[in-house]
Amino acid sequence: MSTPPLPPADHHTSQTYADRFYDELTDELARLDPDGLLRRLRIVSSAGPVVTTDDGKQLLNFTSNSYLGLNEHPAMKAAAVSAVNELGTGAGASLLVSGRLPIHARAERAFAEFKHAQAALLLPSGYTANLAAMTALAGQGDLICLDKLCHASLIDAARTSGAEVRTYPHLKTDKLERLLQKHHAAAACGLALPAIQPSEIIIHNSAITRTPRRFIVTDSVFSMDGDTADLPALCDLADEYNAVMVVDEAHATGLLGETGAGLCEAQDVTDRVHIVISTASKALGGLGGIITASQPVIDTIVNRARPLIYTTAIPPSQAAVIAQSVNLIKTEPQLRQRVRGLTLRLRSELKSQGWNLIPQGEFITPIVPLVVGEAKDAVALAEHFYNHGILAAPIRPPTVAPGSSRVRLSLRADMPEEHIDRVIDVASRFLV
Ligand SMILES: Cc1ncc(COP(=O)(O)O)c(C=O)c1O
Repeated sequence: MSTPPLPPADHHTSQTYADRFYDELTDELARLDPDGLLRRLRIVSSAGPVVTTDDGKQLLNFTSNSYLGLNEHPAMKAAAVSAVNELGTGAGASLLVSGRLPIHARAERAFAEFKHAQAALLLPSGYTANLAAMTALAGQGDLICLDKLCHASLIDAARTSGAEVRTYPHLKTDKLERLLQKHHAAAACGLALPAIQPSEIIIHNSAITRTPRRFIVTDSVFSMDGDTADLPALCDLADEYNAVMVVDEAHATGLLGETGAGLCEAQDVTDRVHIVISTASKALGGLGGIITASQPVIDTIVNRARPLIYTTAIPPSQAAVIAQSVNLIKTEPQLRQRVRGLTLRLRSELKSQGWNLIPQGEFITPIVPLVVGEAKDAVALAEHFYNHGILAAPIRPPTVAPGSSRVRLSLRADMPEEHIDRVIDVASRFLV
């Protein structure tokens, strides 16, 4: 398809192509507004439990994913400051060139040990870690099966890999099994399903021949629902259908499991999951993505992942923060117990008020979504909270499915009980 030529500048009205381009964008944005779908950036004074917004309003912050409050923990600040003083503010190069300082290696070792993995690898964010893992390990001719509610970064990563991407309905392992069965049967009788035929995989412009791979990919805790995957059932399917098991523990690391290692630990499948992705941006209170896996997996990502090769290593202060957060998760288990207690109390009160809460089952996570339906209803509820001194995020399509818009409340261990009292009271006033 040939590209249409750029329209010429309109000399009569002196409106340039750029002016028309900006007008068009402004119109497109205006069309989002009536449906409650227009997003606006704002400035919030800090990332703590009480914040001031740019209109001068002081609010209790129920939007922070720093579930353990580690982003404000004195030991975390001290680790970051000391790394800045000793090593400066930036790594200066990619991991493969000269950006991997001893503090990066130390953080990787601490994290690998925490996750009971052979090796760990630091990336700039959870988003890039997912992108790096999936694009390095999967490609044309492979099959990636994802839970329909997997985080956007996993979906983007799967699509970018070039593999065939299939989703199964949220938590429906029977549907996943049917999907795997179909592909397996087609492979066994040599039918032309390209996803499972031995094929040439094109990586870095060089073709290599290998057996096609299947991947089962899931969040462990789903970011917008706060519910959890059935990892043992998924691992059983991975065993039966020879699939690689990939789990994104973004919202579980630091919170679930006896040592806080995540849902893999809590559901006793640490040895059965091949690749785990964590982020330092939530309970760990910093920034950075961490992949834990066996050494050949890590070495492959180092050699093939463009989001690692072509980007700068995280600053030494962030590596120090990651190492320190692992230490605190081990030594301060009361933080995860406290946020669990706050969540149980809030959920129970909201349930008795009649709110539509997504069931969490055995594993309690500090994500409490109030599902209201339409985007504009979620915006109205968030405004109600705002007007009563609470910052809470309206979550709308495309982040969630149409008709399931919600306000997502995030809890943190450093919130006093009075903040929970307040949110319970304000929520009750929306219903009357
Ligand atoms: C499940 C999941 N994976 C990955 C990410 C991306 O993490 P990061 O913020 O570190 O890029 C998020 C963040 O929202 C997430 O919820």
